[in-house]
Amino acid sequence: MRLSDGFGRTFKYLRLSVTEACNFRCSYCLPNGYRKCAGPQPLSVDELRRAATAFSELGLTKIRLTGGEPTVRKDFLEIAEAISALPNVQKLALTTNGYKLEHRATAFRNAGINAINISLDSLDPQTFHSVTGHDRCNEVLRGIDAAFEADFDSIKLNAVYLKGINDLELDAYLALAKNRPLAVRFIELMETGDHPAYFKRHHIPATVIAEKLERAGWTKKLKAADAGPANEYVHPDYRGSIGLIAPYSKDFCKSCNRLRFSSMGKLHLCLFGEFGVPMRALLQSDDQIEELKAKLTKAVGQKVASHQLAAGLTGQTSNLSSIGG
Ligand code: GTP
Ligand code: 5AD
Ligand code: SF4
Repeated sequence: MRLSDGFGRTFKYLRLSVTEACNFRCSYCLPNGYRKCAGPQPLSVDELRRAATAFSELGLTKIRLTGGEPTVRKDFLEIAEAISALPNVQKLALTTNGYKLEHRATAFRNAGINAINISLDSLDPQTFHSVTGHDRCNEVLRGIDAAFEADFDSIKLNAVYLKGINDLELDAYLALAKNRPLAVRFIELMETGDHPAYFKRHHIPATVIAEKLERAGWTKKLKAADAGPANEYVHPDYRGSIGLIAPYSKDFCKSCNRLRFSSMGKLHLCLFGEFGVPMRALLQSDDQIEELKAKLTKAVGQKVASHQLAAGLTGQTSNLSSIGG
């Protein structure tokens, strides 16, 4: 079974958000922190399991747990165990801000998580504090060490590259990839509905980093057909790699291989654009999974060709914590 859209793209990868809540307040995302509103609870473990079952039976073999911060959920390990146990899920990944990693990396690995992406927007404790609102830089760095000890199949570090904030730290980030197989990825800041002024102040085109890397002897690897959004750079003196996620680059969306499902049970066909297609009513019993699969298949056929970020259109996306990045 394959899930495809009208532009010849096939989807193998689900980003499943388990909560909108987050304990950090990153300046480009939730500068005032997460505020809980009255309203429905996020999907339960059973609802998440049913959603993952439907997608995996439709050919999506990789699932990434996102948020908010996924690990703030008390039942996070139960969620990971339920989803990793599904027969068609070959890879279960996690994107985390890393605040619990130092002490819980092994528990995450034992719950069936194979791959982990850690957000770390500065290596300087003071700057880290000013971006995230928390004094946890060294804990996250120790969390990366703990992730290596826990033996994940893949460990990546994400830094949103920000003018006037962390743009002088490039060499310090490169050093992290020197002696171990860490993939350090720089994400070009994307404009969201809540933060147009922040975007204008801090956005740096990914081409600026690409030029710096090339001058320092890094070469761009040929991208595999099923690769994710990052362009990967390698260097003979480094064990790790550098990735650039350049959402404003030409043809970025042509190779889109992912779908998103929010913690409120909506299918999002793009990170930017639409309100999401509500699916929660079909997550209430195992008997509904065939009906859910049919509805998902129909909705995916409506996926648009591309986001319209370059034209300044952020659609319904006020920030990325509501949709899982
Ligand atoms: P891998 O599965 O390891 O390739 O990671 P990933 O890059 O898909 O996942 P991660 O959660 O680490 O994503 C990092 C960031 O890349 C996201 O939060 C977004 O900022 C950006 N990103 C990922 N997928 C997309 C996408 O489809 N469109 C856009 N515009 N940005 C994306
Ligand atoms: N632009 C780029 N990346 C963002 N992230 C959150 N908001 C934005 C944005 N506006 C990143 C986080 C994390 C990933 C899940 O999404 O830093 O690494
Ligand atoms: Fe939280 Fe991630 Fe948003 Fe930072 S980027 S506030 S860690 S959801």
